[in-house]
Amino acid sequence: MPLNQRKFYIETYGCQMNFADSEIVNSIMIDNGMQPVHKAEEADIIFLNTCSIRENAETRVWNRLKEFRGLKRQKKNDLIVGVLGCMAERVRERFLEKEKLVDIVVGPDAYRDIPNLISEVSDGRKAVNVLLSQEETYADIAPVRTTGNGVTAFVSIMRGCDNMCSFCVVPFTRGRERSRPWQSIQDELKQLSDQGYRDVTLLGQNVNSYHDNGVHFADLMYKASQVDPEMRIRFSTSHPKDFPNDLLHVIAEQPNLCSYIHIPAQSGNSEILERMRRPYTREEYLELIATMRELIPGVSLSTDIITGFCGETDEQHAETLSLMQTVKYDLAYMFAYSERDRTLAQRKYSDNIPEAVKKQRLAEVISLQQSVQEVNNRAEIGTRHLVLAEGSSKRSDDQLFGRTDTNKVVIFDRKNFDVNQYVDVEITGSTSATLFAEPVKVSSIAEFFGTTVTV
Ligand code: 5AD
Ligand code: SF4
Repeated sequence: MPLNQRKFYIETYGCQMNFADSEIVNSIMIDNGMQPVHKAEEADIIFLNTCSIRENAETRVWNRLKEFRGLKRQKKNDLIVGVLGCMAERVRERFLEKEKLVDIVVGPDAYRDIPNLISEVSDGRKAVNVLLSQEETYADIAPVRTTGNGVTAFVSIMRGCDNMCSFCVVPFTRGRERSRPWQSIQDELKQLSDQGYRDVTLLGQNVNSYHDNGVHFADLMYKASQVDPEMRIRFSTSHPKDFPNDLLHVIAEQPNLCSYIHIPAQSGNSEILERMRRPYTREEYLELIATMRELIPGVSLSTDIITGFCGETDEQHAETLSLMQTVKYDLAYMFAYSERDRTLAQRKYSDNIPEAVKKQRLAEVISLQQSVQEVNNRAEIGTRHLVLAEGSSKRSDDQLFGRTDTNKVVIFDRKNFDVNQYVDVEITGSTSATLFAEPVKVSSIAEFFGTTVTV
């Protein structure tokens, strides 16, 4: 079948970066004449864009691939199944040789080669390209956002990671760190603004090491803030080791740069942090948090936490709990440690915390975080927020949901308000995960926060 008669379907797992990558693949496929469909059953080509970060992320993908066996039989093997993303780098041999579930394997830096690879497999061969690149940023490819809501979008600003945290597989699956030229980011932001998008998240594994010809992340954020003063800019994810004060100043000064920072601690114990190759101590981390709160009053903070890392004692785990109690994060992503091949932790330390203990500690951090969020959210009752409406709430079409500048999810009655409108709301109720509000009026960033300040 010629390329331009084929229908394709992409299913995405893992981080926001992977979702952004799927939009790049969308663009490449559509440029080559293929048509996107929303169901695997309707497709001639199925891609799974995969994640390797923890064992269970990979298990889900293996199970899904096994489900496609039946489809392949029905379509008499005309169906092409491809694995993209992080698992492609990690387990390519097993995909192709041992399990025979997959026809194409493409790593995160080789998406431009997909049309060639499809042509190669059409005569029954397998095709692989998992070359990692020092340069590829897909800067010239305009992502096709087929799954979005027309309100929020991700823009990837860098790729890869050079941090080498000892637990993390990402440097092996996504290669060396590289920044996308700032002009191409600015162009994409302009396009998004023209298309009506109002909330954009700049993505990278560690955005504070962004640099392009003397433009650093704080400069990029300033430039981004100037593209459209009514378009909100968020970012993810940053590393505590080199968080510059000028970035905090620019966030504080520009009303469309959101007061929300994801700043993963991973652990609250300095010895564990050292073993994780995170180059900061508990005290330095807490100092950074204090500076953030001083320079951006009301900033909301989130974290990632790993429980049961190699050798973690009960006392060290207790220090993670006390760090969380001290910081009182608004949101946390919490995981039990999962050993990954090739990482320093796997080579150097023993994964010696029993699974049950990891899970017990995980349950403790989750329960603590839930009670912190309950208290934080209850304190919001009576306050006013500017919420950008993103869509109908899950429960009812009569209600809209959106997020505050501080990234909190808010639900309110739809009344005459619309998706993609900024609504000034008063918070009237809360749970640990959600705020409920009374909508007051349609508003804007300029009206709600006062006139745009320019540095
Ligand atoms: N085991 C558990 N969690 C991990 N993360 C990264 N690697 C692992 C691992 N091997 C978590 C970290 C990171 C987030 C994206 O995933 O907390 O910040
Ligand atoms: Fe998963 Fe990390 Fe790859 Fe994202 S970069 S898909 S989190 S392994």
